[in-house]
Amino acid sequence: MATLLHIKSSIFGNGGKSSQLADNFIEQWLEKHPQGQVIVRDLVAEDVPHLDAAVMTALSTPADERTAEQQAIVARSDLFITELKAADEIVMGVPMYNFGVPTQMKAYFDLIARAGVTFKYTEQGPVGLIASKPVYLLATRGGLYRDQGHDFQIPFVQQFLNFIGLSESEVIYAEGLSMGDLAESSLAKANQQIAAIH
Ligand SMILES: Cc1cc2nc3c(=O)[nH]c(=O)nc-3n(C[C@H](O)[C@H](O)[C@H](O)COP(=O)(O)O)c2cc1C
Repeated sequence: MATLLHIKSSIFGNGGKSSQLADNFIEQWLEKHPQGQVIVRDLVAEDVPHLDAAVMTALSTPADERTAEQQAIVARSDLFITELKAADEIVMGVPMYNFGVPTQMKAYFDLIARAGVTFKYTEQGPVGLIASKPVYLLATRGGLYRDQGHDFQIPFVQQFLNFIGLSESEVIYAEGLSMGDLAESSLAKANQQIAAIH
């Protein structure tokens, strides 16, 4: 059975533009995969722990020495990684807040960046340990950044995904969402791009 993982990170929940684009994506994906399974990981709803000394210590403590609290942190990380590995395709909402990714997405990245589990270093440099698969990034922004040399967000997301092995990402931009009439045409264009995928 085909599996699609939806990683959701809008602070506006289902009302977020990236969530709405994802709904459209999922609808079309399910038409193509009627028996398919969609797993939703809402990073805002579930309060992902931020990287601090407690999280870092939990991740670096040997399994048989972890406290119950540390086990819970590692179990969450393991679950996220298992989901990424099991998915056939991934669709990620990537809203821009203050020029970057939502803080919950950064916390998620910090929780899944694990040496020996999702990446390793070799003499040739880092190697990602998650098998590559299509990843669709729904980049929603109030302003315009694409190809203007000051988008630090999508390059960061792609750098991170490449690092853990997910090197096949396609970006669906919906820009200018705070720029009057441009919003509507930008979302329509993003939906056209989504329609062309499946
Ligand atoms: C707190 C906050 C910060 C934002 N910062 C930016 C920004 O730096 N650049 C930008 O183009 N838009 C910015 N926006 C506009 C969002 O990118 C826009 O609302 C987009 O739709 C967010 O995606 P979402 O609807 O999926 O949550 C910001 C919005 C909020 C609420």
